[in-house]
Amino acid sequence: MPAITCIEDLRQLYHRRTPKMFYDYAESGSWTEQTFAENTSDFQDIYLRQRVAVDMAGRSTASQMIGQDVAMPVALAPVGLTGMQSADGEIKAARAAEKFGVPFTLSTMSICSIEDVAENTSAPFWFQVYTLKDDEFMRRLFDRARAAGCTAIVITVDLQIMGQRHKDIKNGLSAPPKLTPRSIANMMTKVGWGLEMLQTKRRFFGNIVGHAKGVSDPASLSSWTAEAFDPSLNWDRIAQFIRMWGGKVILKGILDAEDARQALNVGADAIVVSNHGGRQLDGAISSIRALPEIMDAVGDKIEVHLDSGIRSGQDVLKALAMGATGTFIGRAFVYGLGAMGEAGVTKALEIIHKELDTSMALCGRKSVKDLDRDILLVPKGFSGEWE
Ligand code: GLV
Repeated sequence: MPAITCIEDLRQLYHRRTPKMFYDYAESGSWTEQTFAENTSDFQDIYLRQRVAVDMAGRSTASQMIGQDVAMPVALAPVGLTGMQSADGEIKAARAAEKFGVPFTLSTMSICSIEDVAENTSAPFWFQVYTLKDDEFMRRLFDRARAAGCTAIVITVDLQIMGQRHKDIKNGLSAPPKLTPRSIANMMTKVGWGLEMLQTKRRFFGNIVGHAKGVSDPASLSSWTAEAFDPSLNWDRIAQFIRMWGGKVILKGILDAEDARQALNVGADAIVVSNHGGRQLDGAISSIRALPEIMDAVGDKIEVHLDSGIRSGQDVLKALAMGATGTFIGRAFVYGLGAMGEAGVTKALEIIHKELDTSMALCGRKSVKDLDRDILLVPKGFSGEWE
């Protein structure tokens, strides 16, 4: 096997080794996938300013996110069905994050449950929740997260209803996968994946099955979201969830300065500038394009993180230089997981770390805590001059 040197190598290996249904789930945006595509291509419109003859010795990528020490400001994002990309995937990813010294965020739609991850790791992790109708279920999720020692809750605010991803419908996405002649034929070609999957009991939505009432098809993500999610969400309701939890809160899915101000008002500790990896509103602007206006609106009052589109350390560097104090990677670590399990997640983190560290040095800077827009060449009108 040729050496793996970049995140794209991991994606290709992941593509070969994982059933189509789960690869497609991760590697899709909603509808035309315009936003999904622009999340990555917009990073390339920003240039880095090369500086020479600057002391580059003694560099550091260490920083803090919501007051917690991180080896680099790159957290693992919550990704649904991670345990279908590789058996016990959430545990593998959490272990890799722990060893590297970055936060792991467990999705409510995970295969391994909160308790599973807590029992199999020792570093505290963050837990992501959606905005559900059922208070009782929300309260229980918070209690379980508290009991598991989670140090923050990430509330996804951009998924009251789900954007349509065509491939998931065509593939009949479910966990465990539905056995049709086509899905069986495809899975038969993914031998390593299948052998590992046969050895684990964790093949269902571990936080939901046996915990949530009135779910007509517990294997289907789309039916659960349609039945359990609250279409009448508002900021008071988000404030209620924040009180219910009573600890650190990160609001994920902010793309507009007005919403960023609201997030500040309800008392969040941080926001994640995000369009859900291009999986929700197709036609929305990319996260990196949305970041400057949000920084101008709330950047000095609340911690601002960014996700959607990060596939390299250079992307992380650009987001940090634009003012974000932290970033999240979703697909970039899932590629590693599907390619090589825990070692692949570690590989993804190592790749991004090296790219971040070296690129920062070549911009003449020594610490991720000391970055600003001065190292960037941002095209005029990048953040939009809209009618
Ligand atoms: C869930 O949040 C998804 O994007 O599939």
